[in-house]
Amino acid sequence: MSSNPLIFLEGVRKIYGAGTVRVDALSDINLRVSSGEFMAILGPSGSGKSTLMNIIGCLDRPTDGRYVLDNVDVSGLGDEELARVRNKMIGFVFQMFNLLPKQTALGNVQLPLLYSGIGPKEREENGMQMLIKMGLEERLHHRPSELSGGECQRVAIARALINKPSILLADEPTGNLDTKTGEDIISLFRKLNVEEGVTLILVTHNPEIAGEAKRRLYIRDGRIVSDSGG
Ligand SMILES: Nc1ncnc2c1ncn2[C@@H]1O[C@H](COP(=O)(O)OP(=O)(O)OP(=O)(O)O)[C@@H](O)[C@H]1O
Ligand SMILES: [Mg+2]
Repeated sequence: MSSNPLIFLEGVRKIYGAGTVRVDALSDINLRVSSGEFMAILGPSGSGKSTLMNIIGCLDRPTDGRYVLDNVDVSGLGDEELARVRNKMIGFVFQMFNLLPKQTALGNVQLPLLYSGIGPKEREENGMQMLIKMGLEERLHHRPSELSGGECQRVAIARALINKPSILLADEPTGNLDTKTGEDIISLFRKLNVEEGVTLILVTHNPEIAGEAKRRLYIRDGRIVSDSGG
């Protein structure tokens, strides 16, 4: 049913550790995000933003509660199944880029296609196309240590987009970039959202970037304290 949200979290809790080192990172998170939304997540350091992104992105599971993604309850899936869902539906861009240091730009970008079982020739072609789209045609065979921060982030974005995910998650994607490069990346995200209908969720401390989003979710101490569009 088209009226069902793409992302649906109900009573989600995340507890790290146990006993005296126990951290209640998320408590009673209820959230619906429809296909095609552009949402920013804001909140102080340690409030649970990355924890929430990791759960939405199927990199981690809630301790309690339910996560239904595209009508599938993914809260109880095993690691392999979760990885399959992630590879098919989700692109993730991290603050620290998380590129493999020994792989070239082209090698990094192709990885999700390898996991999808796509053959080497098609992988290389698609990988090149995506890097060219990101303005990196001169950097295909460079390793991350031979690239600038903005170039690394563009490689990371190319990798996130190569499987044509319906959801793009970005955790502080411009935190390590200068203002101009950050703006370029945000306008690229906006374009993906408007023109290709990609559902976009990003964590940012930057009020200008947050202002671009149509919906703003504020988190404090692991709880949603305000939701401008929900
Ligand atoms: N793997 C982990 N084990 C134990 N505690 C963790 C773990 N990851 C995060 N935490 C704790 O959970 C809380 C939420 O962390 P989280 O990374 O989600 O915060 P954040 O809002 O993303 O902060 P920042 O803005 O600094 O990135 C913090 O108190 C953090 O110390
Ligand atoms: Mg974080």
